[in-house]
Amino acid sequence: QQLDMELAQIEKGGFDHFMLKEIFDQPASLTDCLRGRLDVATLSLTLAGVDQHLSVFTQAKRIIIVACGTSWHAGLIAEYMIETICRIPVEVEYASEFRYRNPIIHSGDVIIAISQSGETADTLVAIERAKEQGAFIFGVVNAVGSSIARLSHAGAYTHAGPEIGVASTKAFTAQLAVLAMMALKIGKAKQTLTDADYKHYLVELSQIPEKVQVILSSHELIKEVAQVYAEANNFLFLGRGYNFPVALEAALKLKEVSYIPCSGYPSGEVKHGPIALVDETLPTLFIATKDKYYDKIVSNIQEIKARKGKVIAIINPDDTAIRGVSDHVMEVPETDELLAPLLTVIPTQLMSYYIGVLRGLDVDKPRNLAKSVTVE
Ligand code: G6P
Repeated sequence: QQLDMELAQIEKGGFDHFMLKEIFDQPASLTDCLRGRLDVATLSLTLAGVDQHLSVFTQAKRIIIVACGTSWHAGLIAEYMIETICRIPVEVEYASEFRYRNPIIHSGDVIIAISQSGETADTLVAIERAKEQGAFIFGVVNAVGSSIARLSHAGAYTHAGPEIGVASTKAFTAQLAVLAMMALKIGKAKQTLTDADYKHYLVELSQIPEKVQVILSSHELIKEVAQVYAEANNFLFLGRGYNFPVALEAALKLKEVSYIPCSGYPSGEVKHGPIALVDETLPTLFIATKDKYYDKIVSNIQEIKARKGKVIAIINPDDTAIRGVSDHVMEVPETDELLAPLLTVIPTQLMSYYIGVLRGLDVDKPRNLAKSVTVE
């Protein structure tokens, strides 16, 4: 047993928990994910699984993404990416719903299954059903050789390395990187993306790992914010556009590791219910990086402040308007809004981790949760 404990310590690489190690792994795991695929010098993107079936994607009338949990949130972001860049309609389904609701599937449909473990029972059965009905199945999977990878017609591994912490962190950002590369490849082939935009996205994507590193080096500031809100009884997360699914993911992460009831919403929905929760005890975290929704987010923040709510905002360094009205801010470097989730999720992972630890909980193995749900 002594030996087991020592081995676990070594595997954690000097970090107190796997979750923290895996959060800090992200500059390296993202570099691994992009390596050999994205080459800025030659403006090339190599994704063998997509390259070999490019016409299936360019001719697809519809893409359906199936996944669970954090992987489902990656799917929601991919919907925005693919619809923007490739102009292909995308639907994102919870695998547990899709598998039972007799969905309409046509033979030209492409199904993208997203899964860290590659073993989630609902996702596995969902793609089995779709495969029987003639759909083309593409797996975005982390675990090499897993069941979902084997059942798919083609796929792209996320190459994030083993993820031990039950709450997913580095697998999520690697999923986003793969899905962004897929969208760019397909958009270029379909010519729904200009050469200038293609180049712009490639350059921005190549810079993501170093920008993640910049955010991680501000971990002490994020820990201070966590200390202020560690005793909260409720938490609200809001974002718009590409940052809306990040709000959902941030709420899930904090819920998983702190057991604080959390909700995530698109900021525009706040007036349709969540605003009833706001009082001086409720922290609301806004994901408010510079994008086309910025002015709308500013007015959403003012609505919360007018009701005496506490506001934490994730902003870009040159922001002044939101910094001025928020109780606390966390900074992330600028990038294109399509790639912003790869950065904006990082402070939320760190804040969740610190709050879970401050509450004395086992952040690597939260109660009642499993790393991979292989039964119904
Ligand atoms: C479990 C895990 C989550 C994960 C979800 C989907 O609930 O605790 O972290 O997001 O399963 O898992 P998958 O391996 O399919 O991505």
